[in-house]
Amino acid sequence: MFENFKPLPADKILGLMQMFREDPREQKIDLGVGVYKNAQGVTPVMRAIKAAEHKLWEEQETKAYVGLAGDPAYSDAMINLILAGVVERGNIASVATPGGTGAVRQAFELIKMANPSARVFVSDPTWPNHVSILNYLNIETVVYRYFDRETRAVNFDGMMEDLKTAQKGDVILLHGCCHNPTGANLNEVQWQEVINLLNERGLIPMIDIAYQGFGDGLEEDAKGTRMVASGCPEVLIAASCSKNFGIYRERTGLLMAVSNDASGQALNQQTLSFLNRQNYSFPPDHGARLVTMILNDEALRADWAAELEETRLGMLALRQQLSDELQRLTGSDRFGFIAQHRGMFSLLGTTPDLVEKMRLDNGIYMVGDSRMNIAGLNTETVPILAQAIVNAGV
Ligand code: LMR
Repeated sequence: MFENFKPLPADKILGLMQMFREDPREQKIDLGVGVYKNAQGVTPVMRAIKAAEHKLWEEQETKAYVGLAGDPAYSDAMINLILAGVVERGNIASVATPGGTGAVRQAFELIKMANPSARVFVSDPTWPNHVSILNYLNIETVVYRYFDRETRAVNFDGMMEDLKTAQKGDVILLHGCCHNPTGANLNEVQWQEVINLLNERGLIPMIDIAYQGFGDGLEEDAKGTRMVASGCPEVLIAASCSKNFGIYRERTGLLMAVSNDASGQALNQQTLSFLNRQNYSFPPDHGARLVTMILNDEALRADWAAELEETRLGMLALRQQLSDELQRLTGSDRFGFIAQHRGMFSLLGTTPDLVEKMRLDNGIYMVGDSRMNIAGLNTETVPILAQAIVNAGV
């Protein structure tokens, strides 16, 4: 049987991680995978996570299974963090999942189960794994215009025009905040226009929110998601705790099915739990438990939010420094978009050839579509990157 395997295309982001590791140059700069790094290049365990782990180690008395949906207290805490009460708790079904990717995967399976002919509309560009999983599940994917490669902002008119081609029951995948890979986001007026269109045409929104707290702040970053959740009859939300709690390898995510009344909640919950059972049975608990402990403890929560805010402000300062440095070197403000973008990433908007050139000449690793992980920089490497961008002729 094994002889039937065929070589598979390497994941663009993970392939780059491997290349970076194998590069012997000391001066190399990793702007690839979406993992936060501090000025020392370390991905730290957050203080509140350490404290919660310590407490858990002392107090936890069993590792027995929790439940197919995970601990209901985790769902409650996360729903509150993301939706802040804009939807009645009784209208929401939810399950813990192995990371945000687990939530995305379960959401796609749910779509297929509910409506095998539904197409999923994804932004151009989107996180490559969205498209990869959709293809793997044989779900038809339609690309909608999103990023204007000239202005490096959202091409909102193009987006709306393309979304108008969707048919009733199609699913529109939106990034809740900190769009990955572009860093260009919808404003509140645009969110409302999207919601109006979704409702006029009977389209189902699915939101992937993986960077809450990395853009404009914990509350601000959830605004679009909250507007959609309270403004549309049905919404799927896939959330990740990897980045904002820094617990990447613990695989901690949540999938929500939100309705505008409570009538379908029990069946939705049963369906979500069934899907967990088919795919991996009980979801992982360790990360979810830490998140629950932090969100439900005033002191831990305040410390976590403060550290997350430091992280966010650090990334904003790096964005500003890079944008200023490029302005100084080029005498133009055509890189001003870097300071306007939000989240971990900015899409530089250049060709794969120039991305490759910067890798070969300067040991700078960004994803081939020219996505840069801003958190891979520090104040000393910003000028090196700026010079490399100019030398490459971007
Ligand atoms: C990324 O976009 O780099 C992250 O979400 C990590 C991943 O799994 O691709």
